[in-house]
Amino acid sequence: MSSNSITISGPWRLGDYGIIVHGGAGAWRLKEALEKTSRPIIEAVTRGITTLLDNNSPLEAVVEAIAVLEDSGIFNAGIGSTLSYDGKIEMDAGVMSGDYRAGAVAIVTYPKNPIKLAKYIAQNLDHVIIGGQSADKLARRIGLERHPGPSRYAIQRWNLVKKELEEGKGPKWAQRIRELYSDTVGAIVFKEIRFAAGASTGGITLKHSGRIGDSPIPGAGFYAENGVGACSATGIGETIILTRPCAYVVDLLSKGYSLFNAVEEALKRHTRIFGDGNLGLIAADKDGNVVAGINTRAMPIGIYGREYKPSFLIVSREG
Ligand code: GLY
Repeated sequence: MSSNSITISGPWRLGDYGIIVHGGAGAWRLKEALEKTSRPIIEAVTRGITTLLDNNSPLEAVVEAIAVLEDSGIFNAGIGSTLSYDGKIEMDAGVMSGDYRAGAVAIVTYPKNPIKLAKYIAQNLDHVIIGGQSADKLARRIGLERHPGPSRYAIQRWNLVKKELEEGKGPKWAQRIRELYSDTVGAIVFKEIRFAAGASTGGITLKHSGRIGDSPIPGAGFYAENGVGACSATGIGETIILTRPCAYVVDLLSKGYSLFNAVEEALKRHTRIFGDGNLGLIAADKDGNVVAGINTRAMPIGIYGREYKPSFLIVSREG
């Protein structure tokens, strides 16, 4: 379905277990997305389902799938994270299981896989979000692998957009955020009526140091409720924090909306408030369906389930 600025694909019925992942609803152009993202996305859904079948934990499966995307260097998360105005990597990530356990990290620089630190917090601490140096210290203490530093592509992109900004080219900062945001990753895994959802990101290119986006905020960047469904978001955190589309989708599902209509309503509401070009959603319901929707140009996704072979697709305004 495509209406003006909103495009929704699905539902796909995956069966009694399944996964959906996305590679961000940012600035992808179709050819680029096809060339670069299909391999890591197929690897991510495969790793997610293998993990689920091995240990029966949607939370572990979401984390393993997202870790593949963080490690790929293709997406704006983990190894591929974009740079702040000061030329630093500052990453956010969060994960939630449908039994109301969540963990998240904000502005971390140390771990190669921020999503693994988020999982540690969900499973071991009496807190939900840990930020900055204390989160980095925790990552080091629990023995997580260290981030190797910015990728060549991230440095090239940073140099280019910083130069343009300093030369006063292009529109004002607030408008530029639309052009500068990149490609957060996210995943949802379910087994029967148990769900988990997560997100991981390097944020927005040239962001202010210390800026925190939606990806570590439950309800905004991700949300899951057993017996109801789950959702993960990508787009401009400054808008997503304020409309909390993931909590909204799950709330609508609990009120009896179909998965398609819940995602459509969340995208319409967000677009009414903030305009288009700023949100992508993936979502799952208790009947084993998944859906993906955007108000941007395109979003690569992967799906896999008991009744659906590992598949790579691009949700696109261009059809
Ligand atoms: N959606 C990622 C961010 O805005 O940080």
